[in-house]
Amino acid sequence: MISSPEKVLITGCHGLLGQKLVGVLKATHRIYGVDLGTSTIFSDQTSFHYFPLDITEEKSVKELVRVIKPDVIINTAAYTDVDGCEKSPELCFRVNVGGVKNLVQAARGVGARVVQLSSDYVFDGKRGPYREEDTPNPLGVYGKSKLKSEKILQESGISYTIIRTMILYGWAKGVRANFVTWLMDRLKYGEMVRIVDDQEGNPTLADDLARAIKRVLILGRSGVYHMCGRERTSRYRFALKIARFFSLDCALIHPAKTDELDQKAKRPLKSGFILKKAEGELGHKFMNVEESLKVMASQMGC
Ligand SMILES: NC(=O)c1ccc[n+]([C@@H]2O[C@H](COP(=O)([O-])OP(=O)(O)OC[C@H]3O[C@@H](n4cnc5c(N)ncnc54)[C@H](OP(=O)(O)O)[C@@H]3O)[C@@H](O)[C@H]2O)c1
Repeated sequence: MISSPEKVLITGCHGLLGQKLVGVLKATHRIYGVDLGTSTIFSDQTSFHYFPLDITEEKSVKELVRVIKPDVIINTAAYTDVDGCEKSPELCFRVNVGGVKNLVQAARGVGARVVQLSSDYVFDGKRGPYREEDTPNPLGVYGKSKLKSEKILQESGISYTIIRTMILYGWAKGVRANFVTWLMDRLKYGEMVRIVDDQEGNPTLADDLARAIKRVLILGRSGVYHMCGRERTSRYRFALKIARFFSLDCALIHPAKTDELDQKAKRPLKSGFILKKAEGELGHKFMNVEESLKVMASQMGC
């Protein structure tokens, strides 16, 4: 049976995915957005209500959820700086695990479903692309925190959906740089960049992911889903495609190996997802790089 939940609480609604979710769900759902800021960045507040909320504050989470009584909570809020997580593991676990515990507890109180965003960093990147049932083995603190958040849901007894994604990018107001916006800025300023050619994965347009998540809500799907762009590529090849697409200087892009970059967190090298389950069950076809960059370019007015 097709069911459409009426009230959706989106945590991290000012982040990249959060903003896209508000955009795609507004026409069909009543949206309650929460984030750390005292006021909202959204000027049009039709079908949208904003509340400041830190998901690590147990009492506030419980109280707000009790008052709103959402049908669904989509948790996009997270500490997403993977190198920062190595430096500050306590902060990482407080947000990515403690925050999820608080939301699950509050959701249980009102009978809400939780949709939790997770990552390909739960895998070690030895044998991608991965299916949902492959065994996780995170290499770093961020991946461990995301895997722990998945376990909390799986052991909670509430209804839940876990959505693993990767290399999220897109154009949105005031969000931190993602791979595409960072690269475009560097190349526009004529700066040389070194991009790894030994990390494989599927770049994912946040708008495309948000539309697929909407399908999850409309169809009331539970369990674990892998969701990403349909094209698996190395970061280096992705960078060249971006440069060509936006007519930027490809000669500034030089290949490098992950080992040479001195990054704090280990990266899964052979990552990527198999989309069979998500595409088959949701009736959503994920975009390739070219299609995604076209969407982004039109939003940027290019
Ligand atoms: N980005 C990727 O490549 C990627 C890949 C795989 C999975 N994911 C997952 O996908 C989800 C969305 O990612 P994204 O790139 O859209 O993230 P994002 O742009 O960093 O957005 C996260 C939002 O959550 C807010 N936030 C942080 N801590 C919070 C707290 N304690 N309470 C309430 N809000 C808090 C952030 O505020 P501040 O900006 O003020 O901190 C930000 O507005 C995350 O769960 C992430 O782990 C992302």
